[in-house]
Formats: sequence, C-alpha cells, structure tokens
Amino acid sequence: MLRWYCFQCAILVLEFARALSQQIPACTNNTCCHKSSYTKLDNSRRSIQSQWKSGQTPLCDRDHVTVSGWYRFTSFVGGRMPTLKVNVNRCGTHYPIWLNDKKGAHPTSDTDGVAKIKACINVKELRGGCYYRFKVGVKLCPGDFYVYYLQKIRSCYAAYCAGDGQPCPYGQNGTSLSTCSEVTPQKFPSLYLGYPKISVKDEPENEIVSLRCIVTIHEKVRQWKNVTYEIEWYTDGKRSKFTEIPFCKPQNGRNENNVSCPREKTIRSILNGTGSLNYYKPGQRITCKVKAKFTNNPLHPWSDTIAIQQPFFAGINVTPTTLLISECKEPFFHNITLTPTIPVRMNSMGTFLSVRFYLPNGLWLVNEKKCSVQLEGTNSVTVKVGATCTTLYGSTKSSVITPVITNPRQSGFWGVMGFGLPTIWVTVLRKDQPLHKCLSVTDPHIRPLHTVSSSP
Ligand SMILES: *[C@@H]1O[C@H](CO)[C@@H](O)[C@H](O)[C@H]1NC(C)=O
Ligand SMILES: *[C@@H]1O[C@H](CO)[C@@H](O)[C@H](O)[C@H]1NC(C)=O
Ligand SMILES: *[C@@H]1O[C@H](CO)[C@@H](O)[C@H](O)[C@H]1NC(C)=O
Ligand SMILES: *[C@@H]1O[C@H](CO)[C@@H](O)[C@H](O)[C@H]1NC(C)=O
Ligand SMILES: *[C@@H]1O[C@H](CO)[C@@H](O)[C@H](O)[C@H]1NC(C)=O
Ligand SMILES: *[C@@H]1O[C@H](CO)[C@@H](O)[C@H](O)[C@H]1NC(C)=O
Repeated sequence: MLRWYCFQCAILVLEFARALSQQIPACTNNTCCHKSSYTKLDNSRRSIQSQWKSGQTPLCDRDHVTVSGWYRFTSFVGGRMPTLKVNVNRCGTHYPIWLNDKKGAHPTSDTDGVAKIKACINVKELRGGCYYRFKVGVKLCPGDFYVYYLQKIRSCYAAYCAGDGQPCPYGQNGTSLSTCSEVTPQKFPSLYLGYPKISVKDEPENEIVSLRCIVTIHEKVRQWKNVTYEIEWYTDGKRSKFTEIPFCKPQNGRNENNVSCPREKTIRSILNGTGSLNYYKPGQRITCKVKAKFTNNPLHPWSDTIAIQQPFFAGINVTPTTLLISECKEPFFHNITLTPTIPVRMNSMGTFLSVRFYLPNGLWLVNEKKCSVQLEGTNSVTVKVGATCTTLYGSTKSSVITPVITNPRQSGFWGVMGFGLPTIWVTVLRKDQPLHKCLSVTDPHIRPLHTVSSSP
C-alpha cells in the first residue's frame, strides 16, 4: 500500500514540477476579465461540500484545465476557491486543490493587480494536506467576480475546488439547486430547419392578401415528440404585433407531445393583410424567422434563428425608377413596367387598381390615350414613354413621372394610408446637347474627363 502511495506521489511530483515553472501573467487594464480571455468552469461538484463516494467517477481537471490560463468558476455554489485546507475526497475528486491563503490574500478591489497565491494539492492528507504546492494567480474583476490563473493539470484525480454551496446531486447539472437535472442543456440543431419561404395565401375572393411563411422540417425530426417551433414575422424590420401560437408545444403541463409533431413536411404561419387587425400593409418588406427547442427540459435553450434569405416585398414594383431619354434619338420609346408582387384582386366595388401617369410637358405615353392603365393579379403592365422632338427647348431637363392610383377609396387593402407608387426620375437630353461625365459646376479646376455628344 505504501509503495503504491509513493509511486503515485512520485508521478504527481514529476507532473507538477513542470507546472511550477509556469509564469503567471499580469492582467493589464483588466484584460483577463473579458469574457473572451477566460474559460468558464461551471460544475457544482467543485464545492467543498461535495463528497466523493465509492462508485462515482471523481472529477479530473486533466479533462477541464487542459491548458494553463485564466478560468472563472461560474457554478451557483460559488466562484471563490477555498482558502482553508480541504479534506481528501472533497470537491468531487480524490485530490482537491485549495489555496493556502496565509501568505497573500484574495484581492479586495478590482484595481488590485493579480495576487499570486500558493495552491496546495491534498494527496491523502500527507504533509498537512499540502503535499504539493504551486502558484495560482487571482484577480478580482469589475462586476465582482474572480478569475484565476490556473496551472494545467496533467494527472487524475486532482481538481480545483470552488464554492461552498450545496451542489447538485451526483450526475446532475443545473443553474441552481432547484433546477438540478440529469440533462445537459442541448440546443436544437438549426440545420433541421429549412429556410422560411413567403408565399401568397390562395384566396381569390378576398381582396386582402394574406401571406404564408412556410418552413420545411427535416424528415428525421418530423417524427419527434420533444420539439416545439416558433415562427416570427417582421414588417419593415420591426417585429410584427401578431404573435403566432408556438407549434407542437406540449399541452397540459406535459414536457413531451403524446404523438409525433409536426408529422407533416412543413409548418406554416399566416400573416393577414391590412384589415381590422392591421398586420402588414402593402408596400412593406416582410421577413419571417423560425426557431425551435427541445421541450423535455426547461434547460434546453432555443436554437439559432433561421431567417428568410431575402425580404419579401409586398407591393407593386416599378422599373426602372430612373430614365435617361435622348430626344429624337433611338430608342424613341422607353418602357416603364409595373409588377404587383402580391395579387391585385377585385375589390368590393367590382374594380381592380387603376393607375394614371402624370407626365411632364414634352413627354407622352405611347398608345395610352387616357394615360391610365389597370393592374390585375400579378400581371406586369408596361407603358412606353417617348419624348417629343424640339418641345423641350428651353425647359428643364430633369422631371418626374408620377404614377398615381386613381381609385384607392374603392380598395380596403391598397387604399391604406401611406401606400403609393414611387416616382420615376427622368432626364431628357435635348438634341445635340452634350453629356458631360464627371463635370463639376462648382469647381472650375476640375475638367470633364471626356465629352459624349448626343448627336448621331
Ligand atoms: C492600457 O490602457 C492604456 C490607456 O487606455 C493604453 O495606453 C495601454 O496601451 C493599455 N495597455 C495594454 C497592455 O493594453
Ligand atoms: C455537467 O456539466 C459538466 C460541465 O459542464 C459536464 O462535464 C458534465 O458532463 C455534465 N453532467 C451531466 C450529467 O450532464
Ligand atoms: C428528442 O427525441 C428524439 C427522438 O425520440 C431523441 O432522439 C432525442 O435524443 C431527444 N432529444 C432530447 C434533447 O431529449
Ligand atoms: C394525446 O393527448 C390529448 C390531450 O392532451 C388527448 O386528447 C389524446 O387522446 C392523446 N392521444 C393519444 C394518442 O394518447
Ligand atoms: C386572418 O384573416 C382571416 C380571414 O381572412 C380570419 O379568419 C383570421 O381569423 C385572421 N387571423 C387572425 C390571426 O386574426
Ligand atoms: C420595351 O418592351 C418591349 C416588349 O414589351 C421590347 O420589345 C422593347 O425592346 C422594350 N424597349 C426598351 C427600350 O427597352
């Protein structure tokens, strides 16, 4: 028995002799207090109250303190290393590591530097519980927590002690004594969620267009009973007031569904158009997002959120929105196209949307005597704009074409406040008028790079 002791002790001596030579770095400007600078150790078994019992796997910091560096003990049992001798088989391990605080105490202010404190490994109560000793760095951080510069552990079963609260029972983890549980928090893998897609709900008789967000659920998880899903809507970047009831949420306080859910290939949420509930308005950019989590324990967090790849524009696209027309020169006509991205349906007055174009002097619409077109469904409507020769002499070169919906009052959907079509900016080049590139009017020192003549 004694020989076995000394064999083990010899190994520990060898292992820790190397640790001793490690330098403890300074923590200038509290850099070691930044989240990115330290590693969290959150096992409540490190508490001095934690007693190892036969049959339990002792804690071994060869698996947790794999490099010398800054660490923070984050478990609810406490974040401070003990400064009095800890007996063997405490802290969930055989050889607990504690601080011998007599020479050098924990810092008391976050402006104090790194305190170098002697750490002891209690190996079978030999040498007064301090069989082997080395230095640990201790820093008090803003926010009132400690970070420790711990030396790498090379052999089992030794572990750093921290905290003095009552730990979770063996084999359990938690964020407090009351949430101790045998599960480790597990994020639902978001790769099982497809990218959401937005489409129009097929209701030809309803003028108000409702949108659907459809998310494909991976084949494998469709059969599960322990996942709940949530779809969120955003209009022009803002979270919609409409909140969807979660999908597949177990009822009656159960933590799993009694049948597979959702079973089907997809989950889908409906966002109503402007009606009494005002969920979205035409002209907005709509986004939907999906997330999921395991239901069988409240410790499981939400998955990463998966958003639609591109916002869905629910309105009427006008292209182009800028036009450069050369008078009396090919092409003589320019197209302006209106495309509804959601269908224009018959309103209660039995009409669709009428759009009239207001044109500046000298521009005219080809074949549109009344300057007016009708939009129906998602069909594109193209009008041709031409410039009359010679009429623009002496008049302004830049103007706008304004498409205006002429019957908004007849529509309970498109007629909402704030919805309108964008104007088209037009520049007309007079015959023989040169176009200067990079011409500066205000600075006479900058010369045009080159001149393009508009004459043939
Ligand atoms: C600490 O902060 C001071 C002033 O903000 C800066 O000049 C100095 O370089 C910093 N030192 C380190 C090691 O980051
Ligand atoms: C508890 O947490 C520790 C550290 O996070 C981990 O190593 C261990 O496997 C967890 N135990 C259980 C039962 O989940
Ligand atoms: C959820 O259920 C599936 C299928 O029953 C199972 O494979 C998976 O491990 C469960 N997940 C959790 C976190 O309990
Ligand atoms: C599942 O639970 C619901 C009530 O939560 C119950 O009405 C239904 O019969 C159950 N189905 C099965 C297959 O047990
Ligand atoms: C959305 O509109 C439909 C009618 O089109 C209505 O039946 C439904 O209750 C509305 N949904 C919500 C959540 O208000
Ligand atoms: C306008 O559209 C027509 C087809 O509708 C096309 O043939 C023509 O080339 C277009 N004109 C211009 C200037 O883009």
